[in-house]
Amino acid sequence: MNKLLRQRDTEIWLAARPWLDVRSNDEHTLISYRLGIALLRVHPDVEADIVLPAILLHDVGWKMFSEEKLTLAIGPNAKYPELQRAHEIESVRISRSELERLGMAENYIGRIVAIVDGHDTRPRALSREDALMKDADKLWRFTPHGIACLSDWFETPPKETVAMLESYVTPKLITEAGRTMAQALLANGAATAWVKDTLGLTPTYYAAGAEG
Ligand SMILES: [Fe+2]
Ligand SMILES: [Fe+2]
Repeated sequence: MNKLLRQRDTEIWLAARPWLDVRSNDEHTLISYRLGIALLRVHPDVEADIVLPAILLHDVGWKMFSEEKLTLAIGPNAKYPELQRAHEIESVRISRSELERLGMAENYIGRIVAIVDGHDTRPRALSREDALMKDADKLWRFTPHGIACLSDWFETPPKETVAMLESYVTPKLITEAGRTMAQALLANGAATAWVKDTLGLTPTYYAAGAEG
């Protein structure tokens, strides 16, 4: 028995997985999936059977583009910003085809792909299910794996990555639960980024009144 995934999501994960072995999307997806479960525990009235499949499938479209383009598709100095929308369109196409192959009811497929479509480019959520999916996706960036990936892709030290998340990504979170979780992850990210420097400071440094 897999302890990470719900039993009913395993076949969707197995369908998504071959599309996710680029840009650490497999790990990103699984971490976002568990963050989605955490958000659903705060919001038990939101439909998990829409949120969790949407998380598993949302980024499957990235695989349609070359590795070289992927690293230049996101971030403040993106060379191919159009891929942000293009990967959503491909994700919708692949998600629909995989869910149809699995025999899922059209009612569910329609609701899941509506969330996948626009998960990055549509700032507002269409539903509470969409809001939790969007927050689970973004919250991954605040995790140790997310901070390490972003620092690598943007060539920024973790201290700068954490500061960027706080300034630019926190305001984009939609739910109160998402914002609270982000604060906890930011606390961990900032402490981890600064712990070595701080342990290296002597009492003399503090006595001089320096800001740490
Ligand atoms: Fe995405
Ligand atoms: Fe994502």
